[in-house]
Amino acid sequence: MIDKTRLSLIALASCLLATPVLAQSVNLYTTREPALLNPVVEAFTKDTGIKVNTVFLKDGLEERIKAEGANSPADVMIMVDAAQMISAANAGVTQPIKSAAVDKIVPAQLRDPQDNWVTLTKRARIVVVSKDRVPQDAITYEDLADPKWKGKFCIRGGQHPYNNALFAAYLARNGAEKTETWLKALKANTARKPGGGDREVARDIQSGLCDIAVINTYYIGLMSIAANEQKGWFEAIKPLKTTFANGGTHVNISGAAIAKHAPNRENAVKLIEYMLGDKAQTIYADGNFEFPVNPDVKESAAVKLLGKVNVDTTPLTEIGKNRKAAADLVDKVGFDN
Ligand SMILES: [Fe+2]
Repeated sequence: MIDKTRLSLIALASCLLATPVLAQSVNLYTTREPALLNPVVEAFTKDTGIKVNTVFLKDGLEERIKAEGANSPADVMIMVDAAQMISAANAGVTQPIKSAAVDKIVPAQLRDPQDNWVTLTKRARIVVVSKDRVPQDAITYEDLADPKWKGKFCIRGGQHPYNNALFAAYLARNGAEKTETWLKALKANTARKPGGGDREVARDIQSGLCDIAVINTYYIGLMSIAANEQKGWFEAIKPLKTTFANGGTHVNISGAAIAKHAPNRENAVKLIEYMLGDKAQTIYADGNFEFPVNPDVKESAAVKLLGKVNVDTTPLTEIGKNRKAAADLVDKVGFDN
């Protein structure tokens, strides 16, 4: 009897050895920074047992997946800017996410109508002013055209994707004629040639070159914890509650999509659902002072610093459709000259 049991145990053991245990995994391609993504990916693996193989790319993510074709190991893509997500969907390298949990968390205007991509975090583009020289606490994008800002307005280049998206949103709301007039007025108000980065407008407010400027919210957060001169730039500025007239605040996003040929589709859905949950939303959003897309997340570094953002209702896909026309208007009015 004993020998029989021993024999069957040996048989079972060799059988297990002959059949390697297939570890669950998911392959992630991303243009985001390792320092930002690794903590949330590690939490996912710890909580689900699913291993994440991450490929960090500086750019060219869509091209790489296209080149890999049907054999691409990519399951999930995480990128910044709705234009990148829309472009990937249009290029046919994505597939619908199909998740009731995702649909429940993310508002319709912040995902693809066919669910080819979904927002993970929001990055608002708002107006900041000199804390010392400008008393008001709120503004509309339309009011940036007010001649009272003549010679006091600073902004980065008009063709930069951040401004292109903002101008396209303006165009979607107001039409071409009004947008052209607005852009001309903004240009007439500039204190210097549009250019540089978003943090530099805060620098130029501190130096007194300008009183009012446009900036992405996460830069305000990053400057607030900076150990260098940027801390001083942060202290010189005051963020304004910024909305469209009769509308909300313009946001752009970081987002996720599932690759068309994803070999681990189920795990891809699990990763995206996890990234929309309370825990991951906080880790991932706080890493870059972005706003969680999940409205149930109560504590986030961005909300603590800047308050809640009331997102404009223009769908990101609608903004996407207006980007080319916005770029043409920027050239037409000589915004960057
Ligand atoms: Fe940026």
